Amino acid sequence: MCGIVGAVAERNITAILLEGLKRLEYRGYDSAGVAVFTNNGTLERMRRNGKVAELEQALAGEPLVGRLGIAHTRWATHGAPCERNAHPHFSGSDLAVVHNGIIENHEALREQLKGLGYVFTSDTDTEVIAHLLNHKLKDNNDLTAALKATVKELHGAYGLAVISAKQPDRLVAARSGSPLVIGLGLGENFLASDQLALRQVTDRFMYLEEGDIAEIHRDSVQIWDVTGQSVQREAVQYSDGAEAADKGEYRHYMLKEIHEQPAVVQRTLENRLGQDHVLVQAFGPQAAELFAKVRNVQIVACGTSYHAGMVARYWLESLAGIPCQVEVASEFRYRKVVVQPDTLFVSISQSGETADTLAALRNAKELGFLGSLAICNVGISSLVRESDLTLLTHAGREIGVASTKAFTTQLVGLLLLTLSLGQVRGTLQAGVEAQLVEELRRLPARLGEALAMDTTVEKVAQLFADKHHTLFLGRGAQFPVAMEGALKLKEISYIHAEAYPAGELKHGPLALVDSDMPVVTVAPNNELLEKLKSNLQEVRARGGELIVFADEQAGMTNGEGTHVINMPHIHDVLAPILYTLPLQLLSYYVAVLKGTDVDQPRNLAKSVTVE
Ligand code: G6P
Repeated sequence: MCGIVGAVAERNITAILLEGLKRLEYRGYDSAGVAVFTNNGTLERMRRNGKVAELEQALAGEPLVGRLGIAHTRWATHGAPCERNAHPHFSGSDLAVVHNGIIENHEALREQLKGLGYVFTSDTDTEVIAHLLNHKLKDNNDLTAALKATVKELHGAYGLAVISAKQPDRLVAARSGSPLVIGLGLGENFLASDQLALRQVTDRFMYLEEGDIAEIHRDSVQIWDVTGQSVQREAVQYSDGAEAADKGEYRHYMLKEIHEQPAVVQRTLENRLGQDHVLVQAFGPQAAELFAKVRNVQIVACGTSYHAGMVARYWLESLAGIPCQVEVASEFRYRKVVVQPDTLFVSISQSGETADTLAALRNAKELGFLGSLAICNVGISSLVRESDLTLLTHAGREIGVASTKAFTTQLVGLLLLTLSLGQVRGTLQAGVEAQLVEELRRLPARLGEALAMDTTVEKVAQLFADKHHTLFLGRGAQFPVAMEGALKLKEISYIHAEAYPAGELKHGPLALVDSDMPVVTVAPNNELLEKLKSNLQEVRARGGELIVFADEQAGMTNGEGTHVINMPHIHDVLAPILYTLPLQLLSYYVAVLKGTDVDQPRNLAKSVTVE
């Protein structure tokens, strides 16, 4: 979580650092700071509580001008979000540190350092790193050597950037469990926790690997690996210039990203469909051989990506006849797991850097899985690099913290996986693959039709403006869609929302239903429709107001306390993808009515790279 930017150059680097922080705000945004070795020969810092714009304003009043600096945008883990806890953290007046991650042994180190006379001015785990480094500098006044000694004593996860007024020709960095990338310029070099932060200054990058330490000068970079050996890391040219980083005609990134779904789903399907079958090699050259051996699937993910995995379970079992388990990564990684023979480990992640998902993958490697597949939106992410097979979801950059287009493209990827496994293993019913391939080709157009309901959904949103609690119901593969709908609503409108399989209503949640509790339902026209209708009667009988997204052929009509929004008819297998869209729009419009920060809701972050 949190974002790091650093620069060593011949020109003033403050504006570069600020621009980098703005681009990283998706990772955390409760406070921000910058430390610059100024042209006056002193190390100065500016920190502000709140968003990067606050820091920018402060710097406009009191500019820091220098050629070496580090900066950070924070998502609080240890210590409340406030200026005192914002990074960079100093030890003395010469040493500044920014940190992503969590130092687990910070309490022990803090006590030890206090005993040595260090005075702490924040509640963060990061400050122990600054003081420990300062202490190590007493034995060896080379910054890189001191950093190497320091990280040996740190337990936990870190991406670190350090500068010292005593060695102002360099920026030093360390990576363990939290990504860092060096941006290579001409006579200037940069560092960041995500290459996005540096795209305005370079398109050449060098990715640090786990355990790497780097010493970055204006015109050279030196890297040591986890064993202390000097190593070269490949410099790669980044060429995906197509990503739009502005809102275009939309008021928020989230709305823009919702409306991009027909196009990005189309892109995710490109080059992956043959005339009547899925191209299995889309998962990598060894996919067909590996898939032929798969007898079980274990899916692991977090948040929205977990919901995508839950939908996939219905598909894998009903279409491909493959047993599937789905678990949130934070549980999976610490559970004693019994792995069935020939189980494929599938991780799903928008960012590919989510700490729990990454740790689950690393554990999985020790557990005897058949192989690993990452379904991910970022091709250069750790998850992709560490998995045997990859399917990239070409959703493009997602900026809104509440995930939308990443989810629907993940669903597309998971349906491609289901069909591929069924194809290779011969478990699909005759004709099913050809029919679903045809339906997939039509999907972008159907998504476009669903988005045309934008204004209808906007009106329905008004029903929620003064509500505090909501229930979302679905059956079968629509149950995870209901979960995703509830997650979206709580994330951005702060309305308490819970999702239940509709059949479970009578076992408890029905007690909550009254006229203040709107109940949102997704009702495609499938074999569960009649059962769902009975569940809805149970809600109406208790005075609950129903908002039903129903197939136009489902024969559901408006009535007192029942608002039916007709959805275009779609094949039942693809319905979870289509029905997600109106739920995204609903949350969006409720949040707009409530006046919340839609793209950057409170307390959340886009990429959760800490446990
Ligand atoms: C955070 C985000 C969610 C996302 C989850 C998993 O909680 O706010 O939108 O679903 O992380 O992220 P990933 O990048 O692994 O899909």
